[in-house]
Amino acid sequence: MEMSPHTVDADWWRQAVVYQIYPHSFADSDRDGVGDLGGIISRVPYLASLGIDAVWLSPFYPSARVDGGYDVDDHREVDPQLGTLADFDEMTARLHANGIKVMIDIVPNHTSDRHAWFREALAAPKGSPARDRYIFRDGRGPDGAQPPSDWLSMFGGPAWTRVPDGQWYLHLFAAEQPDLNWANREVRDDFLTTLRFWSDRGVDGFRVDVAHGLVKNLAEPLERLDGRADLVNQPDGTHPLWDRDEVHDIYAEWRQVFNQYEPPRVGVAEAWVHPSRRPRYASPSGLGQAFNFDLLEANWECGEFLRVITDSLADAQQHGASTTWVLSNHDVVRHATRYALPAQDHLSSLGIAKAWLLSNGASPELDRGLGTRRARAATLLMLALPGSAYLYQGEELGLHEVADIPDDRREDPVFRRSGGAEKGRDGCRVPLPWTADGSSFGFSTDAAHLPQPAWFGPLSVQAQEHDSASTLALYRQALSWRGKLQAAESLQWMPGTNGQVLHFRRPGGWQCVTNFGPRAVLLPHGTVVLASSPLEGGLLTADTTAWIIPPAPDRLAGLLTTPAFQ
Ligand code: NOJ
Repeated sequence: MEMSPHTVDADWWRQAVVYQIYPHSFADSDRDGVGDLGGIISRVPYLASLGIDAVWLSPFYPSARVDGGYDVDDHREVDPQLGTLADFDEMTARLHANGIKVMIDIVPNHTSDRHAWFREALAAPKGSPARDRYIFRDGRGPDGAQPPSDWLSMFGGPAWTRVPDGQWYLHLFAAEQPDLNWANREVRDDFLTTLRFWSDRGVDGFRVDVAHGLVKNLAEPLERLDGRADLVNQPDGTHPLWDRDEVHDIYAEWRQVFNQYEPPRVGVAEAWVHPSRRPRYASPSGLGQAFNFDLLEANWECGEFLRVITDSLADAQQHGASTTWVLSNHDVVRHATRYALPAQDHLSSLGIAKAWLLSNGASPELDRGLGTRRARAATLLMLALPGSAYLYQGEELGLHEVADIPDDRREDPVFRRSGGAEKGRDGCRVPLPWTADGSSFGFSTDAAHLPQPAWFGPLSVQAQEHDSASTLALYRQALSWRGKLQAAESLQWMPGTNGQVLHFRRPGGWQCVTNFGPRAVLLPHGTVVLASSPLEGGLLTADTTAWIIPPAPDRLAGLLTTPAFQ
């Protein structure tokens, strides 16, 4: 077991800034157009320059990449196309040497159909122990030709696929992702082994994929869902597929493993559940932390942000876990683009953006400048909040969604399984631009696995590196100031908060003001150390956030070397 001297703080994750790396699209070191661990190693100096506390790696395991690597062939190996376990160790060591913790994705709801267990299950007879690791059932109807239930895959189409001997297996995602049977003790033990395997290699934490899906009600007859895929109407643990109470018995076992390490390993649940149910996942006797996607789902609107922040902090205070904040990840349209589209009544920015994707980004026309401006303001607001913030690769460059990927280049199974009714998530997974021109903008020496648009060049790292007004510079400055200013996990709303402005104060006197527009507003007394867009005549302009520290001789004023603004 690793006793890592660099990580003595057991609470490091509570207010950490975690940067999500989607390995296939981050950096390619071996010229095959697919990102890899060597690419990450080569960019450790860049990661360190951002000022992040941790990285989270989406799956890098052996996989046919039917679902971007979330179809895992072996949970305790590295995909040969991405590197080796030795590369993983080197990457971890280099990140640790730079003070960056390592979190990895763990995918317990399903394996891939190429996993040794699933191959064994297909070769084994009905009712065998090999089949019991998955969820096999006989079909309905006289010859069993109807699926066992009306359950639908999250990616479209039925959630059951038939195998040659006539049985069906359950897959809540792609057919190549058979669901595991978590009632099976061998499955449970194997994941405990996996947690130890990576923890022993120095991994500091785990992002738990589909954490709310592992336990299902499989009592016969299987409950009819009549198209009710989500939890909207059943936020009480009674849905047969999602967020069942018994799932927490699994995480209680995981916690015992986490606590055998020093400092304890941490988990963050990807749980798309009703906010009232989120604390169960974030409990200290469970995973410790859970993603809060409420901010990501909110429109760029003062009242919505206020409600989400207030509710989330109240929850956190009541339950003792720190809140997480997310604006973008590998599953949703990038926030710069969401905020660049005209608002529509009763629709979330996510829904509006999905509809826009269907037009290949043609309609309505994107107001890129506005989206970028708002995204910068939203990020600065998020980074001033108590709790931990998860950033997604490329948002620090102000990247927009790539909407015009040719259909024959799309990789996401959502596109295929929905028959094109949804475009899918490739547009936020396009490989990063490192250089302003050249082969795949410095991502690889070959073409990138997803096509990059020409407008990536001016947004590349190289183009922004020495531009103090760039989004990259803003992220670096924000993370540097956050490190210096971060205090106890609380905030106090200030009287300036109204229907257009959010204004709060953090312990120590650090203040954050966001103007959701349209009129410029006065700023509180103090020194503006950072603003997401230039001030005008000392006023905070529309769609802008500023961070302010109290005037001298306050303790925080001592942190100023050169005033950045005013
Ligand atoms: C959630 C992941 O974030 C997503 O990318 C993936 O497709 C599904 N889980 C299935 O593993």
